[in-house]
Amino acid sequence: MIHRHDVIIIGAGLAGSRAAVEIGKVADVAVLSKVYPSRSHSGAAQGGVAASLGNISVTDRWEFHMFDTVKGSDYLGDQDAIELMVREAPETVIEMEHWGCPFSRTEEGKIAQRKFGGHTLEFGREAALRACYSADFTGHVLLHTLHEQCLKHNVNFYSEFQVLSLIFRDGRAIGVVAWDMVHGGLHTFYGRAVMFGTGGYGRAFKITSNAHANTGDGLALVSRIGLPIQDMEFVQFHPTGLYKSGILVTEGARGEGGHLKNSEGRRFMEDYAPTLMELAPRDMVARAMQQEIDEGRGIDGEDKIHLDVSHLGEQRLMERLPQITELAMNFAGVDPRVEPIPIQPTAHYSMGGIPANENTRVTMDANRTEAVGLYAAGECSCISVHGANRLGTNSLLEALLFGRRAGKQIVEDVHDLEFPNLPPDYEDAARGEIEFIRNNRGGEKVGTLRGELQDSMMIDCGVFRTKEQLQKQKEKVAELADRFRHIQIDDNGDQFNTDLLEAIELGHLLDFSGAIVEGALLREESRGGHYRKDFPKRDDDKFLRHTLAWKRNGDWELTFEKEVVLKGVSHPGFEPKERKY
Ligand code: FUM
Repeated sequence: MIHRHDVIIIGAGLAGSRAAVEIGKVADVAVLSKVYPSRSHSGAAQGGVAASLGNISVTDRWEFHMFDTVKGSDYLGDQDAIELMVREAPETVIEMEHWGCPFSRTEEGKIAQRKFGGHTLEFGREAALRACYSADFTGHVLLHTLHEQCLKHNVNFYSEFQVLSLIFRDGRAIGVVAWDMVHGGLHTFYGRAVMFGTGGYGRAFKITSNAHANTGDGLALVSRIGLPIQDMEFVQFHPTGLYKSGILVTEGARGEGGHLKNSEGRRFMEDYAPTLMELAPRDMVARAMQQEIDEGRGIDGEDKIHLDVSHLGEQRLMERLPQITELAMNFAGVDPRVEPIPIQPTAHYSMGGIPANENTRVTMDANRTEAVGLYAAGECSCISVHGANRLGTNSLLEALLFGRRAGKQIVEDVHDLEFPNLPPDYEDAARGEIEFIRNNRGGEKVGTLRGELQDSMMIDCGVFRTKEQLQKQKEKVAELADRFRHIQIDDNGDQFNTDLLEAIELGHLLDFSGAIVEGALLREESRGGHYRKDFPKRDDDKFLRHTLAWKRNGDWELTFEKEVVLKGVSHPGFEPKERKY
């Protein structure tokens, strides 16, 4: 079946939905989603969205937010894009308030704001209360507010469609081919412009806060048609994932005063970051926790640390952190009102992604040459406002803000883009993939391969990395990719064929995992979320550059030629002196 709309958006999270609101006002827009739109992973975000509103920290300014973001990015963020983001942050959040988003409030009725790691006033002098929040359901309320706006503006939703291929000819995006998860069958969606808002790639790792759907589909599709993906080695491990499941326990819990303790009952962060303690940047806290675990001070000798919020009292927990209280009870069997929560670092955020500029147009090379009619925003994109490490609460901001920019840019561009003709072979790649998965009889099981990938990525390409580990992991990914050619699924039906869907997703995971590992191997330095035990220092001379990874003839080719955009925020003295890894 063929569907024709002016604009095709893949992904109904904050970025995709925010763009759709803008486009729906003036053009015919379709949003494809693997899930029901309001179940998109943006809804799992808990702690807040950053904006220097100054509702509590009255002296807050965008310049402080910019400084923190550049510093947090370990200087790899593009400073023009960062400036734009932090300047537009207040109006982006206030717009959501005006659309009815139920934020928590201060006594005077302003949007409430809380502390988050790395956000400061006066260029690092003291902690800023900059995270606008709605208890610990911030992503959920933002997503639902946007969904209402989408419905108001007649956005066409196609729920439960798995995208398979991007139709791209002569530098122009034309549409996508997708699998109808409910009934089976291929559907082609084509139009003047295509936007990706497909989220992150945390599902390449065993312990992750990401939804099962976060298999980096947009990245895999883009790399399959010969475009590069950027900075893939930068994966953020959030310090506080629930032990074993990896489910997010918001940093807001530490922002509200929660403590991290090792098996000795000691707040070990005093050894690593005595000033900022639990609110040091995420990458530092995750590494400190991993170090404690590796040196035998994990709780009960296992891979876990305690997060203690019991001293905050029931009233505050119920008012500010009700979701994590419930999650801890349901998924870890502990009552945070009276006992500590077992946690461990969890793959949380993908700094790498589809290269795009501040207008969200996808770029195709180190010179930032723009593709025609192709846009990306949110976690699947690498614009790059987070550089090597994202500050907490800058993700919801990025998704909303660049989703809005994408929408506005597409509205501006769309009438100059002729309605394309579908090329004769538009469905071939997708059809070939489905037939391969359905007809192959090699005996390899999808679940086995996926488990081996996730386990090995966690161990050998995780919080700490070395050359030996990464070399081993490169070989492991190659072995798994080879075994993938011999997969066999058991279900040959059409309706809700999860066997087939999981095979498609595994293909995507295997595709880009090679780029994560090879980027990590070649980047012989430590920066942000990428920590090489054998190269523990940042090396600006060699690596103050973005990584571009191209899939060519089945192999990844990587270059470091894409310059970081610098605009004057530099402060090498930031290198945390306390750390002892
Ligand atoms: O900890 C959190 O609530 C996560 C926020 C974020 O990743 O921005």
